[in-house]
Amino acid sequence: MLLRIAIYVTFFLAVSHGATLPYHDNAHSVEDGDKSGGKRTKDPGYVRMPVSRQKFKSKGKSKRGWHWGLPPDPDDIPPALEPKRPFQPTHSTSPTRPPQTPWPSATQSTLLSATSTAQPPTVHRRAAERRWGWSSLEELGGIAYIIQLDIGTPPQKVRVFVDTGSYELWVNPRCSTSASDALCQTFGNYFPSKSNSALHIGGNFAVTYGTGAVRGSYWSDVMSIAMLQIPQVQFAVAADSNYTFAGILGLGYTYPYSIPYPSVLNLMVSQKMISAPIFSLGLGGDGDGFSEIIFGGVNRWKFAGPLVPVSIWPPVRDQDPRWVQYWVNVTSVGLTTPNEAGKLYTPREGFAMPTLIDTGSTLSYIREDLVAVIGQQFNAEIDLQGNYFVDCKYRDMPGTVDFGFNNGAMVINVRYKDFIYQLYPGRCMLGVQPADYGSTNYVLGDTFIRGAYLVFDQQSDIVWMNQYYNCGDGVVTVGQTPRDTKNVFGAC
Ligand SMILES: *[C@@H]1O[C@H](CO)[C@@H](O)[C@H](O)[C@H]1NC(C)=O
Ligand SMILES: *[C@@H]1O[C@H](CO)[C@@H](O)[C@H](O)[C@H]1NC(C)=O
Repeated sequence: MLLRIAIYVTFFLAVSHGATLPYHDNAHSVEDGDKSGGKRTKDPGYVRMPVSRQKFKSKGKSKRGWHWGLPPDPDDIPPALEPKRPFQPTHSTSPTRPPQTPWPSATQSTLLSATSTAQPPTVHRRAAERRWGWSSLEELGGIAYIIQLDIGTPPQKVRVFVDTGSYELWVNPRCSTSASDALCQTFGNYFPSKSNSALHIGGNFAVTYGTGAVRGSYWSDVMSIAMLQIPQVQFAVAADSNYTFAGILGLGYTYPYSIPYPSVLNLMVSQKMISAPIFSLGLGGDGDGFSEIIFGGVNRWKFAGPLVPVSIWPPVRDQDPRWVQYWVNVTSVGLTTPNEAGKLYTPREGFAMPTLIDTGSTLSYIREDLVAVIGQQFNAEIDLQGNYFVDCKYRDMPGTVDFGFNNGAMVINVRYKDFIYQLYPGRCMLGVQPADYGSTNYVLGDTFIRGAYLVFDQQSDIVWMNQYYNCGDGVVTVGQTPRDTKNVFGAC
């Protein structure tokens, strides 16, 4: 994960008063039918730093950012430890959700019966059992989305970036060499020496970026994440790092791909906390405070109608096994300007742009000709770094930028407000930039994801999508059969 924050950090610190980040109390209700969805305060006007990461297989520096070097060398990564002793739970859930909170219990079977009446009663009964974990995500001004982990005994709180574009968990960036020491300090550290349940595994964890890097070694400890407590999770503890100011939770494909040990997502499945390696993301609108992740479940109050399956392409079996990622074909790009019918900038048929869906990227990166035509519509001014600056007034207009999938069968309309990225009040840029010259490493980052409800499904190698709405909360379990996700019907 690469952070592209250099230009704006100084200003951020100046404006954010010693880097006190707005830490939202996102403890809104997850009970089904809560139409209000909770309330929260608005962000103060702090400056945002774009984070961009383009994880390419080739090394080298781009004109605009930093690239991944190579994935960690698999020979340096030790396999998982056998559990040494039975695990004794010492704390029950993540504080993001008090354990006393009543779960939507009866509602789940009711909801399912409404949408899956054709299923035999056995499947129905199984589907009614709750197997999911929920967490709010903290939105860092639209730059990145953060989840809280509690690691060790007693638990130590660490906040890390949620990243669908990488696949390992690591903590403890070196703050003094990060882009922002003060900001970095706020995310917390994990000290194995202070945990009774820490186990040292060793090995070499190393990821090299075009600029910046992280290296460290592996540990294993108990971890609470999204209300689920996992007895023994393997992750990396950085000994040294450059640039990044928080650890990273990679949610890409892992075992049996890329790494010889099970990831957090794999463990949730093997511990039977969730039924299959599936998680759902509703980042929600810019600054609205409803960002959340659900492991093993879908919040049907965040979209309308069915979830549309978009197949991962190139197929998982055809991708580099060291780095299997959530690539999908984007089949149209267009714009719906206020008071006008939608315009399409791509051929009506036969267009396909394989694109990585990546929460770890603040902006999106697509074909240069498409960026140019979108830029024109907003009278964008391009600086030497390739940023497309636009008037912030567009954020208040009712238009959308439209991304189509499955040959136009489904289009996600991203509101200008969610697509146009505000660096700080009065300074805005398009949420999309050209991919590097000559490169086809296209990325749909947070400027797209805010417009969609997404279900990352490693059971079926599909990213299920539909337009994001917010009409309440109500979670259903998925993954008990591969049909579950298909049968969930959005409530909005
Ligand atoms: C950080 O950057 C310096 C200079 O670019 C480099 O020499 C050093 O190895 C980097 N640190 C890590 C952990 O890679
Ligand atoms: C993606 O696009 C390519 C190139 O047009 C096409 O061959 C492939 O079938 C598409 N994949 C899916 C899943 O639609």
